[in-house]
Amino acid sequence: MWIGLLFSVMSMSTFLQQQNSEAFGLPIEETQEMLESYRTLTIHCLVTANYLQPSRHTIETLILHFAVDQNVNVDADIGNWLLIGLVVRIALRMGLHRDPSHWPNIRPLQAELRRRIWIALYQMDFFTSTQVGLPRIIKDSQCDTRPPAHLFDDDISFEHDEIPSERSLTDPTPLSFIIHRNKIIKVAGEIYDVTEAAPPSHATISILSTKLQSALDDLPPWLQAKPSQASIADNPVTMLNRIFVNILFHKAMYTLHKQNFLKSMVGEEGIESSNICVNSALSILEHQHRLSEEMEPCGLMFNIRWKVATSLNHEFLQATMMLCLALTRINADTADENALQLRQNITVPLLFTKGLWVKNTERSSEARRAVEVITAVLKDPNELNKAETSVSDGK
Ligand SMILES: *[C@@H]1O[C@H](CO)[C@@H](O)[C@H](O)[C@H]1NC(C)=O
Repeated sequence: MWIGLLFSVMSMSTFLQQQNSEAFGLPIEETQEMLESYRTLTIHCLVTANYLQPSRHTIETLILHFAVDQNVNVDADIGNWLLIGLVVRIALRMGLHRDPSHWPNIRPLQAELRRRIWIALYQMDFFTSTQVGLPRIIKDSQCDTRPPAHLFDDDISFEHDEIPSERSLTDPTPLSFIIHRNKIIKVAGEIYDVTEAAPPSHATISILSTKLQSALDDLPPWLQAKPSQASIADNPVTMLNRIFVNILFHKAMYTLHKQNFLKSMVGEEGIESSNICVNSALSILEHQHRLSEEMEPCGLMFNIRWKVATSLNHEFLQATMMLCLALTRINADTADENALQLRQNITVPLLFTKGLWVKNTERSSEARRAVEVITAVLKDPNELNKAETSVSDGK
């Protein structure tokens, strides 16, 4: 399994190297072949060392293998959902869902590593499930693992008998981002679970949106949304993390109201849900617009553009589909000033996003689908079905 872990690290390194292949002067075919070999070798090791009987390094190897797979597939893939289901179940079997403090023989370093693994799996389960529109595996009520302590790698070692005191969570670090994001994901996951089978009641919507808002308000200032002009001086990774969190918030918000919106519920509640879905989708596409500019060769995020590529595609697609659906609901011959303005507000970003999707049609079937649907709704306002099924599948 140790060799498997090594190969999975090598797959991930090759993937990252590939994202910058021009800079390294490597031909893409060569790195692709290397990546395929390392992935295959990782699988051989997982099988040979019997990953179903987890031992040292099994879960780390599986997680890295999953992460590479997820990054390599541009489109949301049902295989990823099946794989994360397996990985989570193996983690459950290892007791990672229970806080290590239940077992006094687990050393502090080991305990922290277990908490870090669990938080990573928790987030992967959420994102993978919402991407394919199928249930999450992890049930919050059965888990009590605390988030990891905010420590740097050299703050803790094998010798420690106690966990050293935690660093402040107010500064931006990769780990503090994950810890903060987890609080939003927890609420978003709850929202996802309760809206799965039927539209939530008015009271549930109200409780959960308050909960979501307060989770958002608790974030430190560096993760709070701010106008793009105000973030010029920020580190690009911090800026990107802030955008990730904001998109996550909007995703949770529209998930909460999606069923009402899809069913075109009438009355005040229906109007409110539909406004919230449209506004969230518009905000998400605004981020897409901004990111596409920053990922150009002279943009602030050019060097970290690979971080954006696959992880946000699905969110942009979902927002696109939602706006297409909203557009089909506005009568083309309306003379109502408000409806005309809304139509305008939706059409302009849709045309822009279409331009972005067009660039990816060769390597992504989701991009082709987005282009198809946008073209159809802009041509024919009665093309309701395609957009509607796309939104309700979670695709
Ligand atoms: C359209 O967008 C403008 C500018 O963001 C906003 O002030 C206006 O309320 C929007 N209109 C509708 C009907 O959504």
